[in-house]
Amino acid sequence: MTLLLEGRRAIVTGAGSGIGRETAKVCAREGARVGVLDVDRTAAERTAAEIGDAALPLVADLTDETQVEAAVAQAASAWGGVDCVIGCAGVQLAGQDDRADRLSLDVWRRTLDINLTGMFLVSKHGIRELLRNGGGTVVLVCSPTGQFGCAPGYDAYSASKAGVYGLVRVMAADYGEENIRVNGVVPGYTRTPMTEWVTPQEHDALLETIPLRRAGQPEEVAEVIAFLASDRTPYTTGAVWSADGGITAI
Ligand SMILES: NC(=O)c1ccc[n+]([C@@H]2O[C@H](COP(=O)([O-])OP(=O)(O)OC[C@H]3O[C@@H](n4cnc5c(N)ncnc54)[C@H](O)[C@@H]3O)[C@@H](O)[C@H]2O)c1
Repeated sequence: MTLLLEGRRAIVTGAGSGIGRETAKVCAREGARVGVLDVDRTAAERTAAEIGDAALPLVADLTDETQVEAAVAQAASAWGGVDCVIGCAGVQLAGQDDRADRLSLDVWRRTLDINLTGMFLVSKHGIRELLRNGGGTVVLVCSPTGQFGCAPGYDAYSASKAGVYGLVRVMAADYGEENIRVNGVVPGYTRTPMTEWVTPQEHDALLETIPLRRAGQPEEVAEVIAFLASDRTPYTTGAVWSADGGITAI
């Protein structure tokens, strides 16, 4: 059986850590060349070194269009094109995000800039490459917080993630005729540096809300992302798949 992403060329944002890092590794294991994009150069280079020859470290701040465009161009020129654009990068500004009446405009803007505008910018420049290529796939990471009010006090984060659902669906409609499929993946409570702030008590309370009664591992989310990025899902677009232990089912 051929590998899931044999011969594909994928850019993965946020690939220096957590879900993005595991996604880059799964894509490479499945035969892709992978652009390991992160704002943190050391982290991007570390993931790229773990992967080896199939990896191309790309350093860009997703809030800066010039940097995003340059990183996408770097990958496209190294490989002669791009087939898959995978948006994993995001921030949850714990200790700064808040409910609306206490939330500063700066924290709101910073969160929206990275989590939503960053997804837009990598989609914009990545999709230009896919169009040149005659098609491809986009997968963006969403969150249950964008679907339900399940994270009180994380108003900026929740709103930014709700925006990602909208972007997935409208881009699926925009690009279907041009052979570009756009899907989302919803992690649940996943053990990565993003959730290090969770206290043991909060951890136990969170597990009570999860049908599988455990936290997810980033590689469990990465497998779903790689599957949706591949040609094994040719009739799937505008879909948002959960890899969340069942949180969004109840
Ligand atoms: N961990 C969870 O429980 C969970 C749950 C639901 C959704 N998510 C989503 O999954 C995605 C990955 O989260 P994670 O848990 O792996 O987080 P993480 O903190 O481990 O990794 C996020 C990566 O994004 C990078 N990044 C941040 N700002 C950037 C920028 N401006 N430009 C480029 N890169 C930038 C960071 O350097 C980091 O390497 C995020 O979109 C997050 O919102 C995570």
